[in-house]
Amino acid sequence: TRCFALVPAAGSGSRMGSEQPKQYLSLLGQPLIRHTLAALCASTRIERVYVVLSVGDQEWDRHDWTEFGDRLVPLFCGGASRADSVLNGLRSIADDTAESDWILVHDAARPCLAPWHIDALVRELIHDEVGGILAVPVADTLKQADGSHHIAATVPREGLWQAQTPQMFRYVMLKRALESARHVTDEASAIEAMGLRPRLVRGDPTNLKVTYPLDLHLAEWILQHREG
Ligand code: C5P
Repeated sequence: TRCFALVPAAGSGSRMGSEQPKQYLSLLGQPLIRHTLAALCASTRIERVYVVLSVGDQEWDRHDWTEFGDRLVPLFCGGASRADSVLNGLRSIADDTAESDWILVHDAARPCLAPWHIDALVRELIHDEVGGILAVPVADTLKQADGSHHIAATVPREGLWQAQTPQMFRYVMLKRALESARHVTDEASAIEAMGLRPRLVRGDPTNLKVTYPLDLHLAEWILQHREG
């Protein structure tokens, strides 16, 4: 079975408080997304890496992507939400994929993806019926807030996991799931809404999503201190 990666990179990054979409912020002197794409393109488990950019993306063509050769394919078809961007991407690669191909959807904003993250996910799921996601057990105690920032309830953290990406599902199943559940923040919830139960594959917290300015510093530190 073949595995393809699909990277939604059509967000505006409003929580970063910067003009530049976060996928293009500088990380160790390179656009953040270059680290993400390099990790995926370097994996022998992945045939090709599709990156979904916004239709009006002005930045992509200012950079040189030739080092990735034809393993990297840009698609200018981003949508209003992450789920729309993924679905548009899936639709536009229909002719190049088979029903049973695996799609690894990975956030552009997770530049610290390591080879062992991809290996663990693919190894665990390649023979699975449904697929699954990388995730880490929740470390903090969680509080449910009421309308005035008082604690309404404490959510026991036992059995709770933080979802990461890649999220790995079969091409046709994922497309069908996203077509019927548009308002989801990840692929797994669309699959869950079809009554299926994706697997949790334990990753680690270094695969962080760059959301706030501090995350950029953490990501640089992680990349600089990684062995190998
Ligand atoms: O905003 P958030 O951190 O959840 O975005 C996760 C990923 O989804 C980012 O890589 C972002 O570029 C992408 N995205 C997208 N299209 C949108 C919104 C977000 O591809 N409309």
